[in-house]
Amino acid sequence: MANVYVTRMLPQEPLDVLGRSHDVSINPHDRALTREELLREVRGRDAVITLLTDTIDAQVLDAAGPRCRIFANYAVGYNNFDLDAATARGVILTNTPGVLDEATATHAWALLLAAARRIPETDGFLRSGRWDGWGPLQFLGLDVDHATLGVAGLGRIGSRFAAKAAAFDMRVIYHDVNPSPEFERNCGATFVDKATLLRESDFLSLHLPLLPGTRHFIGREELAAMKPTAVLINTGRGPLVDEAALVAALRAGVIRGAGLDVFEEEPRLAPGLAALDNVVLAPHTASATFRTRLAMGRIAVENVLSVLAGQPPSTCVNP
Ligand code: DGY
Repeated sequence: MANVYVTRMLPQEPLDVLGRSHDVSINPHDRALTREELLREVRGRDAVITLLTDTIDAQVLDAAGPRCRIFANYAVGYNNFDLDAATARGVILTNTPGVLDEATATHAWALLLAAARRIPETDGFLRSGRWDGWGPLQFLGLDVDHATLGVAGLGRIGSRFAAKAAAFDMRVIYHDVNPSPEFERNCGATFVDKATLLRESDFLSLHLPLLPGTRHFIGREELAAMKPTAVLINTGRGPLVDEAALVAALRAGVIRGAGLDVFEEEPRLAPGLAALDNVVLAPHTASATFRTRLAMGRIAVENVLSVLAGQPPSTCVNP
C-alpha cells in the first residue's frame, strides 16, 4: 500500500477509489497549504496530487524525496511546476487535459456575453433599487452577432471556444504559432498575424499557455492597437495580460471592456480593477462545473494508480 498525499479536498468519488488500494492523506483545511505545510506534508510520500496554487519546485521535489514517483496536477495547466527539476529527478508530472475544454470555453463565452451586455452592471443597478422604468438609452451594450471574434491560441480550449461562435454568425480570426488548416476548414476561421488580430477583433479571447514568450502577450502597446470598442477576455492564465496596463486602458477608454477569470497575482487583483464597471470578474472558475471537476479528479487519480502499479500514466507532461 503506497502513501499518497492530496494538497486539497477534491470531489470525493475519485478519492474513494484511490483509498481502496492506497493510504491517502488530504489537507484538512479549506485553503491552500502554506509553503511550510507543503514542504512538510510531501515528505516521504509515494505520490502527491497537487493544485495550480501549489508551487512545485526543486525544494519541494527534494522534500518529497526519492520515494516519490508522481506529482499529479489537478489542472490542465502546469506552470506551477518546475518541469525540468521534476524530470531531472525522474519524477513524473501529469495534468488533466481534455475534460475541461467545454466548461472553460463556455465560461469564456459567459464572460464575453456578460461584458458585451453589461450584465453585472445591470444586476447591481436593479438590486440598488434605482430603476425607474424602461429607457431607450439605458445600458446600451455591444452586438455580438456578426462581430469579429479574435482567438489567441488554438489549442483544445481555444478551438472549442471558436467553434461556439457559429451560434452568433461571427467572423472568426485566430493567431497561434502555426495555422491549423483543419480547423479553418471546419470552422471557417482565418489565420492572421498578431497585429491583425489586435486591430480587427471586436472581442479577443486568450487561450494561450503561460510560457516565457507569452507573458504579457497583452500589454500597453497591444491594448493601444485594439479597437476602442473591443472587449478582452482571459480564461487562460493571468500573466498573459499586464493587469496594471489593462486597468489603465479600461479606465481611459482605450478598450471598451474586459472579462477576466484569471489574474496576475491570484488571489490578489491589480489596484483599481475591482472598482471598474466595464470589467466582469470571476475567481478562476472556468472549469468549475460538477462534471468537469469530477472528471479532472478521475484523471489525476487514474494517473497516480497507473504509476504506482508500474504503468505509464495517460497524460504525462514530462518530455
Ligand atoms: C487548469 O486546469 O489549468 C485551470 O486553470 C483550472 O481548472
